[in-house]
Amino acid sequence: MIFYFSGTGNSLDAAKSIGEYNNERLISIAKEMNKLDGEFSYTLGEDETIGFIFPVYAWGPPKMVLKFIERLKIDNYKNNYTFAVVTCGENIGNTIGILQKHLIKKNMKLDSGFSLRMPNNYIIIGDVDSKSVEEKKLLEAEETLKNINNIVKERKVGVFQVVKGFMPGVLTSIVNPMFNKYGINTKKFYVNDKCTGCGICERVCNTKTIKIDKKPIWGKDCTQCLACINLCPVRAIEYGKGTHNKGRYKNPNISINELENI
Ligand SMILES: Cc1cc2nc3c(=O)[nH]c(=O)nc-3n(C[C@H](O)[C@H](O)[C@H](O)COP(=O)(O)O)c2cc1C
Repeated sequence: MIFYFSGTGNSLDAAKSIGEYNNERLISIAKEMNKLDGEFSYTLGEDETIGFIFPVYAWGPPKMVLKFIERLKIDNYKNNYTFAVVTCGENIGNTIGILQKHLIKKNMKLDSGFSLRMPNNYIIIGDVDSKSVEEKKLLEAEETLKNINNIVKERKVGVFQVVKGFMPGVLTSIVNPMFNKYGINTKKFYVNDKCTGCGICERVCNTKTIKIDKKPIWGKDCTQCLACINLCPVRAIEYGKGTHNKGRYKNPNISINELENI
């Protein structure tokens, strides 16, 4: 059973690879979170593996992933093998540590954890990778995934292959809370005249905060996945003044349909 969260497809790409190789079902965290309030109850198959696959946001897990874990209830959990893969543009700080703390509160443990370097989708500060870097990262990620797939298949315990970056403690314990408090904001999203009202942004929005009334209108609830701005087919969405000259990213192995939360 693999729980995944993805804005632009990298984490879903990884989840599909691991799911297929290990014969595990995939469950979209966003779809579950948008479906009901209260607890999420799952029954594991005998000796079933549990996986969490999601992108890093400012050196921590997306808020929605942590909220999901807080509401997670696994009925017949008997120390089932549990792993996490955190996709990133470069590095993930102590994201695995935060995840572990949340799992411990649910009496669960993490047996293995990995960072997986993939193309960058954070265009609010910084830009997408060049085409050549994007292609190189995707090729390298395929190789890293082969290694992760084998470790998960063999259920190796205590394997943590993580690129944390410089001063991970500072990144995760100081920058991440500041990002969660001040960096997630829908006020600066807007559309230009190119918008056709096609509704893709509404359908890919992980928090269901976008509603189309001829053009998209953003509510307040947001996890800053940037699916809306990256996946708009006519580049009609901008964020403040900083995204005009930036590229847009979607994982080439994943279709927009697969990222829709309907
Ligand atoms: C809000 C936000 C913050 C990000 N922060 C980081 C970061 O701290 N470190 C990093 O290497 N990549 C960072 N990234 C890049 C993504 O983690 C990376 O591109 C990821 O693979 C995207 O996954 P997805 O396609 O499944 O949404 C960030 C992206 C976003 C949208």
